[in-house]
Amino acid sequence: MKISIIGSGYVGLVSGAGLAEAGHNVVCMDVDANRIAALQLGKSPIYEPGLEEMLVDNARRGHLAFTTSLEAAVNHARALLIAVGTPPSEDGSADLGHVLAAATGIGRILSKPLLVIVKSTVPVGTCDRVRAAIQKEIDLRGEKAAFSVASNPEFLAEGHAIKDFMQPSRIICGVEDEQSEDLLREIYAPFNRNHEKMLFMDVRSSELTKYSANAMLATKISLMNELAGIAERVGADIEQVRKGIGSDPRIGYAFIYAGPGYGGSCFPKDVRALSHTAREHGCEARILGAVEHVNNRQKTHLYAMLDRNFNTELQGKCIAIWGLSFKPNTDDMREAPSRVLIDALLESGVTVRAHDPEAMDVAMNIYSGNQNFSVHADQYDAAIGADALVLVTEWKLYWIPDYEKLAANMRQKVLVDGRNIWSQETALKHGFTCHAIGRQSIG
Ligand SMILES: NC(=O)c1ccc[n+]([C@@H]2O[C@H](COP(=O)([O-])OP(=O)(O)OC[C@H]3O[C@@H](n4cnc5c(N)ncnc54)[C@H](O)[C@@H]3O)[C@@H](O)[C@H]2O)c1
Repeated sequence: MKISIIGSGYVGLVSGAGLAEAGHNVVCMDVDANRIAALQLGKSPIYEPGLEEMLVDNARRGHLAFTTSLEAAVNHARALLIAVGTPPSEDGSADLGHVLAAATGIGRILSKPLLVIVKSTVPVGTCDRVRAAIQKEIDLRGEKAAFSVASNPEFLAEGHAIKDFMQPSRIICGVEDEQSEDLLREIYAPFNRNHEKMLFMDVRSSELTKYSANAMLATKISLMNELAGIAERVGADIEQVRKGIGSDPRIGYAFIYAGPGYGGSCFPKDVRALSHTAREHGCEARILGAVEHVNNRQKTHLYAMLDRNFNTELQGKCIAIWGLSFKPNTDDMREAPSRVLIDALLESGVTVRAHDPEAMDVAMNIYSGNQNFSVHADQYDAAIGADALVLVTEWKLYWIPDYEKLAANMRQKVLVDGRNIWSQETALKHGFTCHAIGRQSIG
C-alpha cells in the first residue's frame, strides 16, 4: 500500500522503516529540512538500535523516501499516519498544535480518498478535531474528498523500538467505519500472522487506551519508588522486596524496579495530560497526581544521597556520572533523571564529569558553555579525580565495573547505585562506601 507518514521522529521513522520493510511503499515527511536532508544522505537523526540500517536498506530498495513536501506526501498516500509530537503545554495538557497543523495542511491538499491514521499520543476527542480541521479546509475550497480518521496509538519503547514495531504484542485501532478497519488490516497484515493482535474499538476508547497504558506503567514505577523510600527508612532492602512481590503472578516481575524516577518523552507528559483531561471533565485524578509528585521527588533522590554522604558540603566536589539518557539504548535525554541531578550539582558548585555511550553529544548541547560540566569518551576517565561515582542509567557496559580501576582513579571511594545493579559486597571488598535506592548504605 502507498503510505505516508507526517512527522519523522522516533515514531514516524520506526513506523516508516517497519512498514517499508513489510513491503509497503512509504514516504516519510517532516517540516525539519535538516532532518530530511540527513535522512536522504542515509543518516538517522536519532539513535535507535538497527534503525539507520533499516532506513538505508529500504530507501535503496525504493520502498522508502523522505520529503519536506506535504503535498507530495498527501498525493502519494492511500493511508497517511500522523506521527508528529504532542509536547506538554504550560498547563500540562497535550499541545495539539502540530497535529492540527498537519490536519489543516492535509485538508488544503486532499483531493482523493484517504485514511488518516492518528498515531501520535493524543487526548480523547482529538480524532474528532482532526476530522473537523480537514473537513473545514476541504469546504473552504468548495471541493469534495472522501476521507476517514482512525486512531492507532503507538506502543513502541525507545531502545527496542524496532522489535516492538515488527513484533507488536497488540495493535490497537479505533475506527468509525468498516473500510477503515479493512485498510488497517491490510497495512498490518505482515505484523499479524502469528496470531490475532489487532484489537478494534471505538475511536475514543483507542485514544484513552494509550494514556491508560502509560499511566499504569508510570504508577508501577512510582509505587516501587515510594516503597523504596520506606525500605531505606525501616532497614529493609527493596531488591529483596521486589523479588518477594514479583513472584506473585498477580503482580509479576515486569516494571517493578526502584530507580531514580521515570523520564523520557512519554510517561511524564502523558501522565500530566491525562490528569488534565480528567480535570477538564470534572474528575479528580488523585492517583495520577500522586504518581507525578512521587516521580518528581524521586528525581531529587540521588542528589540527596550525595548531599547526605558529604554532610551537605558538596561545593567544590567532583562527581562522576555514568548514564545520561533516560534509559539505555537511546540518546534521548528528554526529562531524564540525570538532568535533575546534574542541574542540582552544578547549582551547588560541583564539577560534573559524565559518560554515556550515546547521549554525550545531546548532553553537550544542553550544558554547552558550563565549564563545570564535561563528558569523557572512556567511562573510567570520567571517574578520574571524582569524589563519588553515580550510576544513573543502566547501560550494559556499567553492570560489572572494574572496581580496582575505579579505586585507582577516584579521589574518594563513594558509589551511588541509582539502579541497584552493582554488587555491594564486591564494592565493599575494594573499600568503597555504597549507597543504593531503597537499600541500606554500607562501607
Ligand atoms: N518516542 C516514543 O517512545 C513514543 C512512543 C509512543 C508514542 N509516542 C508519541 O508519538 C508522537 C511522536 O513522538 P516522537 O517521539 O516520535 O516525537 P519526535 O519529537 O521525535 O518527532 C516528531 C517530529 O514531527 C515533526 N513535525 C512537527 N510538526 C510537523 C508538521 N506539522 N508536519 C510534519 N512534521 C512535523 C518534527 O519536526 C519532528 O521531527 C508523540 O505524540 C508521542 O507522545 C512516542
